[in-house]
Amino acid sequence: MPTKQDGRPPKQRVAGLRAAIEDANYRYYVLDDPDISDAEYDSLMRELEALEDAHPELATPDSPTRRVGARATGGFAEVRHAMAMLSLSNAFSDEEVAGFVRRIEQMLGLTDPELAFSVEPKLDGLAISLRYEAGAFVQGATRGDGTVGEDVTANLCTIRAIPLKLRGSHHPKVIEVRGEVYMPKAAFEVFNERARERGERTLANPRNGAAGSLRQLDPGVTARRPLAFYAYAVGEVQGASLPDTHSATLAQLRRWGLPVSPQVEHAQGLQGLLDYYRRMGDQRDSLPYEIDGVVYKLDRYDQQNEMGYVSRAPRWALAHKFPAQERSTVVESIEINIGRTGAATPFAVMQPVQVGGVTVTKATLHNIDQVARLDVRAGDTVIVRRAGDVIPEVVRVNLERRPRGAKPWHMPSHCPVCGSAIVREEGESVARCTGGLVCAAQRKEAIVHFASRRALDIDGLGDRNIEDLIAFDCVHSIADLYALTLDDFLRMKRLADERDGRTPEVAKKGKVATRWAEKLVDAIEASKDTTLERFLYALGIPEVGEATAKALARHFGSLDALMDAGEAELTEVSDVGPIVAGHIAAFFAEHRNRGAIAALRKAGVHWQESSARLAAGGPLAGQTVVLTGTLASLGREEAKDRLEALGAKVAGSVSKKTSFVVAGEAAGSKLDKAQSLGVEIWDEAKLLALLKAHGH
Ligand code: IVH
Repeated sequence: MPTKQDGRPPKQRVAGLRAAIEDANYRYYVLDDPDISDAEYDSLMRELEALEDAHPELATPDSPTRRVGARATGGFAEVRHAMAMLSLSNAFSDEEVAGFVRRIEQMLGLTDPELAFSVEPKLDGLAISLRYEAGAFVQGATRGDGTVGEDVTANLCTIRAIPLKLRGSHHPKVIEVRGEVYMPKAAFEVFNERARERGERTLANPRNGAAGSLRQLDPGVTARRPLAFYAYAVGEVQGASLPDTHSATLAQLRRWGLPVSPQVEHAQGLQGLLDYYRRMGDQRDSLPYEIDGVVYKLDRYDQQNEMGYVSRAPRWALAHKFPAQERSTVVESIEINIGRTGAATPFAVMQPVQVGGVTVTKATLHNIDQVARLDVRAGDTVIVRRAGDVIPEVVRVNLERRPRGAKPWHMPSHCPVCGSAIVREEGESVARCTGGLVCAAQRKEAIVHFASRRALDIDGLGDRNIEDLIAFDCVHSIADLYALTLDDFLRMKRLADERDGRTPEVAKKGKVATRWAEKLVDAIEASKDTTLERFLYALGIPEVGEATAKALARHFGSLDALMDAGEAELTEVSDVGPIVAGHIAAFFAEHRNRGAIAALRKAGVHWQESSARLAAGGPLAGQTVVLTGTLASLGREEAKDRLEALGAKVAGSVSKKTSFVVAGEAAGSKLDKAQSLGVEIWDEAKLLALLKAHGH
C-alpha cells in the first residue's frame, strides 16, 4: 500500500492510491474479505484528495474521489433500455413452484432431475441497469416501466460497490449489467437511529431507503446514504459473447469486479428449489440484507431461449415469495420498558399476528416522539412490520378504523418497575426512570458502575461477579454489597460453577477460592473510604461524568449541600448546563435514591467533607487567575485545583478581566501581557502563603 512517506513522483503515487482504493472496494463488496480498516481506507482517500488538489492535472473523471458529482437540475433524463427490463412471475406455494417445473419439463422434453437452476435471493431493493463501455461505467438507469427508466448515473457513482471501471481484461464493447441497489440492514438501523435522535423522518424500510436515496437530485445526499449493489443479470452485450450459462456469467461479472450475492447457488430439480427456499427462509433474519423471497432461473441460456416469455416475464424464471413481513393488527395497550440505563421505551401490546412466519404480540414504538408522530393509541388498527432480525415495529396507523374515544398516549409519570418518577429533560428524545440506584431494571448497570475503577474502585468485582451476585439473590441494592461475607461469595461461586457445569472450585481448590473471596471482601471494605467526587460519580446520575462530579464536589463541599441545591443553583457550577442540572435535581428528588444513599452511609461509606460551601463563598470567589511558568513546589493542575477550591476561576489567557497572574519560573508571553495590561503579578511564595492561610 502506498504511504505518505514513499518518495515516488505524484503521478505514480496517485495511480498507486487509486489502485489501492479500488482494490479495497473490490475486496469489501465483491469478495466480502476486506484487508484494510475503515480508517486506513479513509486515510488513502484523503491522501489521494490532497494529491489531486495539489496536482489538478492528475485528476481524472473516474478517480474514486470523483464519486460525488454535481446536482441534477430539473429532474432526471429519460433512458430507453436497449433491452427491456422484465419482471418475474411470482409463486407463493410449493404447488405453484411444482407447476413451474412441470411446464419446463414438458416444453424441453426433460425430466425433473435433469434441470439445472441458478437459485438466488430475491433482493428487496431497486432494480437498475449499469452500462459499461470498454470497461468504463458510462450510464446507470432505474427500471422505470421496463422500457424507459431514469438516468441516475450521478447517484449510482456514489455507491462504492459499483465499480467505475471493470477489473481484468477482455471487456465487451458494451455490457449492461442488471442488479439491485439495496440498503444493508445494519446501515438502515443506524440511519433511522440517527434520524430519530435528530427528530427527522425515519425510513419505513430498507427498500424505501434505497429507492428514495437513488431519486435524490443531489448526489451529495445519496453519497451519505449507505447503499450497496448486487448484480444478477445482463442486458445488452456487444463485442463479446457470454458463457453458456447464467451462473458462469455471474462468475464472470464477479471477476470483472461486480458484486454478486454470496447466497447464489446451483440447484437440481424441484426438490433442490424447495430445499433452497426453506434454507433461505431460515437464514432470512440473519442475512445482512433484506430479501422478500428467492428467484429460480434455468441455468442454460439455450434452455432459457427455448422457454421464452409470457407477457413481460420469462417462462424460465420464477420468484418464490416469503410470507409478508407486514401485517395488520389491533393495539391493546401501550406500555413502557425500562432499559439497563433507565431509558423508558414505549411499546405496543397487540393482538397476536403472524408476521413473516413468526407470531408477534409486541412492537417497539422507540420513544415519545415516535408515538406522537405515528399518533398511535390503544384500540388502533396498525400495520406491524418485522425487518430482518430487528424487533417488530409499528409502521403506521389505519386512522379509518380508529375506535371512537381512543385517547392519545402519554408517558406514565412513574416507573412500572420501581415506582420512581419518570422524567424527560427538555431537548432529549429519551425519558428516563430516575430511580437509578433502586430500580431492578437498572440494578446491574448501577452496581457495575458503582464498583468501577474510577468510581468506588472495588478491585475484582467485575461484570460477571455482579451478574452472579444478582442472579443468586445475594444483592438487591448497592448497599447490600457492604453486607456481603466470605460465605456469600463462596456460595455464589459454587452456584455459578454448578450452573455453568464446571467442577466447583470451592471443592477442588478450596484455598484458592477462599483467597479470592477474602480479596473481594477486603476490596469492598477498602472502598468505604472514598472522596465526595468519586462517590458522586459512582451514583451514575445521567450526564454526570468524572469532571462534573469533581466540579460539583468542589462547588458544594458536602453531599447534603448538593442534595439541597435547586436547579438554578446547580447551573452555577462550571460544566453544568440546564440538562445536567435537570438530571441531578431529578435524581435527588427521588426519595428512593436518597434512601439508597443513606443506606450506603450507614454501611460505612464515608469521605472528607469541607464544612462550608467554600468555593462559592471562598476568599477568591469572583476572581479570575492565570497561571504561567513552572511552579517549584506544586504542579499546574494541583495549583489550579487549590485555587478553584478557594473560589477562583482559573483561566488560560490574560485579559483586562484577569484579577492576578501567578508567575513561576520561565514565565513567557502571559507575563509580558499581564505587565502591559497592568495586571497584578504574584510569585509562588505569595500564592503558597494564601493557600496556607486558608488551610489548603
Ligand atoms: S432477475 C428477467 N434476479 O425482482 C428477470 N430479479 O420482479 C429479471 N429482483 O425488478 C430479474 N432479486 O428488482 C432477478 N436475483 C434476482 C432478483 C431480482 C430481486 C427483483 C428485480 C426485478 C424484480 C422482478
